Amino acid sequence: MSVSSSGSAAYSGSLEGSNAQRGLWSSRLAFILAATGSAVGLGNIWKFPYVTGENGGGAFVLVYLLCIAIIGIPIMMAEVMIGRRGGHSPVNSIKAIAQRDGLNPAWKLVGAVGILAGFLILSFYSVIGGWAISYVGTTASGQLSGQTADAVGAIFSGLLSNPGTLLLWHTVFMALVMLVVAKGVRSGLERAVSILMPALFVLLLIVVGYAMTTGHFGQAAAFLFQPDFSKLTTSGVLVALGHAFFTLSLGMAVMMAYGSYLPKKISIAKTSITVSVIDTGVALLAGLAIFPIVFANGLEPGAGPGLIFQTLPLAFGQMPMGSLFGTLFFVLLIFAAWTSGISLLEPIVEWLEEQKGMNRTVSTLGAGVVCWALGITSILSLNLWADFAPLGFIPMLEGKTIFDLLDFFTANILLPLGGLLVALMAGWVMSKPAMEKELALSPGTFNLWFVTVRFITPIAVGVVFIYNLM
Ligand code: TRP
Repeated sequence: MSVSSSGSAAYSGSLEGSNAQRGLWSSRLAFILAATGSAVGLGNIWKFPYVTGENGGGAFVLVYLLCIAIIGIPIMMAEVMIGRRGGHSPVNSIKAIAQRDGLNPAWKLVGAVGILAGFLILSFYSVIGGWAISYVGTTASGQLSGQTADAVGAIFSGLLSNPGTLLLWHTVFMALVMLVVAKGVRSGLERAVSILMPALFVLLLIVVGYAMTTGHFGQAAAFLFQPDFSKLTTSGVLVALGHAFFTLSLGMAVMMAYGSYLPKKISIAKTSITVSVIDTGVALLAGLAIFPIVFANGLEPGAGPGLIFQTLPLAFGQMPMGSLFGTLFFVLLIFAAWTSGISLLEPIVEWLEEQKGMNRTVSTLGAGVVCWALGITSILSLNLWADFAPLGFIPMLEGKTIFDLLDFFTANILLPLGGLLVALMAGWVMSKPAMEKELALSPGTFNLWFVTVRFITPIAVGVVFIYNLM
């Protein structure tokens, strides 16, 4: 990897031969790996295609991209900045800044929203991670080769209808996450990610290559990139906003935690943009891989959470060396989900350690087991409780199972709320000179960011919330 690939003009050129600065560069890389490991996950490959399909394609994608650019990146910068300035775990970082800038300590609430959101997300995230584990066996066994769309669909429905199998793989996924969090051995996994993520990217490219041969690539590209605003609903806008937070791991103080490790000399803006661009790139590639298969096989773009499990196996069943590529793909997907899962469990474990004085093993076991148990409600939502909509009397939540509700409440409400609090904190109460120093941008760029977090983000999140309540 060359020096210039670090993408930071601030110190490139002076790197050669200096160990201290080489260390700095690798710290930037370490941050990017940890942050991308958290950001790139099931959200990109599983969730993005299916919510895009459910919300009509192009117009939704456009709103999602706007949310990433106008809301996501500035909020990521704010989170990283707060973390680096505070220099501790999120709750304590905010406390420290509150003391220095004379803020109300109630801003700690940002950390609390984050801890709750992470815990709730992980409960169902682990169930989907379990689907990916199950599909390693499905693809490796070769049973997919030459199958029809109906047969592939039946394999997937078979998995969903079997609570025992779902529970087994959910348990395995949660155990993998807990193992790493309990042992605090993140760095090894994160280094592995520097090889595995590019590999995932290449495999996605291979599937995109296959998708181009289906004769429906143009239709898929049009579906993804030609906005048809008649298909966009107000709830679609809320989903796009929520997904921008979900996919970038925002609104949960995760980036704050990682930011506290970022060396002072490194540009927060460039680093945040790098992570966001990689994350968005993976999602768009996943879309380009999946939708040609959807159209070529007459499947339903709005098929819901099973979309990738009903399309990708078809591709792997038809392309040369498909069993090999398919197995590899799902293994890499598990790694991507694993690193994201760790970043969902970490905040609550850290909080239990710091505030409740528990040791790491006990707090990981405690939080992990409760989260695992909550995940069982998501498993049952897929079969025995599929018709149970506990909040169905609220029009907006009609027909939503517990699994749907957990997803809706976290991604579309808690994360944007967490992001809103971060924006308000940075935009209205933190010391401006301190932020100028921390971000080290040109005055024009700083003001652009400042106006965004002060006005644009709060107004955008507020308007989307209010519209959806009405
Ligand atoms: N971003 C991850 C994904 O796309 C999910 C995730 C991990 C997350 N950590 C998070 C979402 C923190 C919100 C907040 O799969």
